[in-house]
Amino acid sequence: MKTGSIDFGERPVLLAPMEDVTDTSFRLMCKRFGADAVYTEFVSSDALVRHVNKTAQKLTVSEEERPVAIQIYGKDAEAMAEAARICEAARPDLLDINFGCPVKKVAGKGAGAGMLRNIPLMLQITREVVKAVRIPVTVKTRLGWDADSCIIVDLAEQLQDCGIAALTVHGRTRAQMYSGEADWTLIGEVKNNPRMHIPVIGNGDVTTAEGCKECFDRYGVDGVMIGRGSLGRPWIFREIKHFLAVGELLPPEPFAWYLDVLKEQVIQSVARLDERRGILHIRRHLAATPLFKGIPDFKPTRVAMLRAETVEQLFEIFDNIRFEDKRQEVEVMLRG
Ligand SMILES: Cc1cc2nc3c(=O)[nH]c(=O)nc-3n(C[C@H](O)[C@H](O)[C@H](O)COP(=O)(O)O)c2cc1C
Repeated sequence: MKTGSIDFGERPVLLAPMEDVTDTSFRLMCKRFGADAVYTEFVSSDALVRHVNKTAQKLTVSEEERPVAIQIYGKDAEAMAEAARICEAARPDLLDINFGCPVKKVAGKGAGAGMLRNIPLMLQITREVVKAVRIPVTVKTRLGWDADSCIIVDLAEQLQDCGIAALTVHGRTRAQMYSGEADWTLIGEVKNNPRMHIPVIGNGDVTTAEGCKECFDRYGVDGVMIGRGSLGRPWIFREIKHFLAVGELLPPEPFAWYLDVLKEQVIQSVARLDERRGILHIRRHLAATPLFKGIPDFKPTRVAMLRAETVEQLFEIFDNIRFEDKRQEVEVMLRG
């Protein structure tokens, strides 16, 4: 897949933008495990043009994580163009526009997926942003506002005409939020529309190596983007890339190997924030990780893990998890 002058390689697997998740350390970790591109969490264009310090910090990208996209959202074309220029100065490889966020505080105000109810404005913003910067601009959106308005096939062409370099489609409507199943058939229709010539990246519910391969094989997408499947499991990219390359599942590592990855996530999170906030930040990953699935009577340990307040407490809990005979279970887990 190529976007502008950036070559993502064959059948690239990308880390999705996720608020409060895809900070620099998580992006780097996913990159280390083979993610072919990574995205920042979405950044408010309004906050950027007002020079809000905390927002500006989200623009920091590092050389080792390239190719990296900064994602912005907003509903004012002028602010979006100005925010795009501010982002470009932070030197990302791509600038992504979020037209897919379904949450009330964003979509309810007309930004994110709210733009699916105002296509002329969506297209105007896209054109203005493309015009404002020299780096490739991409868009991430959903199938439509609701089941009665799945406009994505036509919309994709219109966005392409605005000059974007690639399009990511999350196979849900705004009304679905995160419920139900992603509809990959419509993503496939976007990709297989003969008038589309920009790369189409599919997104939604990919959590296994086999599932990812099927998305490439059956729907013909140029890239697959992984969101929740990476939570507490950044090694998913390694599993997928291996399977795509050789057609066989990667043999599982010892349980302690996976635990060490989680420990490293904790350490990095605490180093970046502070102990209290770092641990709060990592809880989402600990709650979501499939690593502890199937351990008998794990519930009290899980509760303690999610209540731990210091690194020492947390690592003590980790070290007391019995993993002698976990190999088989990890294997089951890897096979989804
Ligand atoms: C915690 C969380 C935060 C998210 N934040 C963003 C975001 O900032 N920008 C965005 O485009 N999508 C965001 N998303 C949506 C994901 O990028 C992705 O489209 C969605 O989760 C579906 O993919 P998945 O099934 O692989 O998770 C977020 C999703 C989650 C779970």
